[in-house]
Amino acid sequence: MSAKSESLQNITMSGGGVYSLATRGAEDVINKAAPLVIDALNSMSIPEDQSDFTFADMGTADGGTSLKLVENFINSLRKKSPQLDINIVYVDQPKNDFNSLVQTVLGLGHFPSYLETAENVYPFFSANSFYKQILPDNSLDFGFSATAMHWLSQKPCDLSQHVHMVGAEGEEYLQFAEQGKKDWETILLHRARELKSGGQLVFLNFCRDQNGKYLGNTTGVNMFNNFAQIWSDFLEKGRINQQEFRRMTLPQYYNTVEEFSAPLQNPSNPVYQAGLRLKQIETHVTPCPFAESFKDHQDSKRFAGEYIPTIRSWNESIFFGALDSERPLEERKQIISDYYQTYQHQVQESPEEHRMDYVHAFTVIERI
Ligand SMILES: C[S@@+](CC[C@H](N)C(=O)[O-])C[C@H]1O[C@@H](n2cnc3c(N)ncnc32)[C@H](O)[C@@H]1O
Repeated sequence: MSAKSESLQNITMSGGGVYSLATRGAEDVINKAAPLVIDALNSMSIPEDQSDFTFADMGTADGGTSLKLVENFINSLRKKSPQLDINIVYVDQPKNDFNSLVQTVLGLGHFPSYLETAENVYPFFSANSFYKQILPDNSLDFGFSATAMHWLSQKPCDLSQHVHMVGAEGEEYLQFAEQGKKDWETILLHRARELKSGGQLVFLNFCRDQNGKYLGNTTGVNMFNNFAQIWSDFLEKGRINQQEFRRMTLPQYYNTVEEFSAPLQNPSNPVYQAGLRLKQIETHVTPCPFAESFKDHQDSKRFAGEYIPTIRSWNESIFFGALDSERPLEERKQIISDYYQTYQHQVQESPEEHRMDYVHAFTVIERI
């Protein structure tokens, strides 16, 4: 895959620190996984003469959602091996808002940062892709990633009837499955080169779980079907054209537990041969924080007003990018604004039906 094909993807999260303010659920997922991360750390044997330790957070966005986890990690590592200098490498694709990331990590943004008090901790910022090698061979001790690796390196095709692979069928579905398999193996092969022997990876990835559940499809309205339905209504009303409908195809793939596990368990797979082994994989549903707090406050306007920004924070750039660039900018902005307004109205009308529960596979991998 060329650098160019990847950089063409418009998968930026909201900037200015808005991502982690709007995406409380993603932080809940990370905090829920903290015991798993610390267990993986504690399973490592770190030589007494090792002088530094490198942790990487890949697909970090503005860094806000992992601040507490990283602090927790540093404290646990300090207890285990007090002599270490600690490098924390924040990685995201080049179009990410790196100014916000730097501000957040340095404690100059919306939240306090561990860096204000931690000693001998060195932050690094890498504008790179997890579809490439990010660190030198055998230099990474611990790799972490949350809610990022469902973004494919490229869109294998436009979907004719839907906006996401969870609603794809036939040949279109197969093309997404093939891309998902190739991309997961590429991610792992690069990590296998970077990781030291005994190094650990903890990845929290969106998945389709054993009960067929996935993000926004646990109970009530299926969020992705709803995205597709409103986009299709816009097509019928002439607000968008056929090409724009098709172009709005999210370049994402949600692996199943079997798909995540396969390259790590099959001795003939290059990933297995490169030394990566599956230690643990489990699925988790993390409740939508906005739907949960609605149960207490019962204010449907407030719920809709909180719920839509969390969705917008991760998919607005894709909807916007699907519109013809010949359309005047103001017209494009209006279509997108009306699109989310329609969704917001639906949520306000039937709040009990809407929730974006997160469905993840928590995967722990070791390099032998
Ligand atoms: C939903 S955010 C998750 C942010 C954070 N890890 C969390 O859990 O809240 C996904 C992030 O993955 C990044 N991303 C997508 N594709 C990437 C790639 N190929 N390499 C590095 N980062 C990528 C996006 O830019 C975005 O910041």
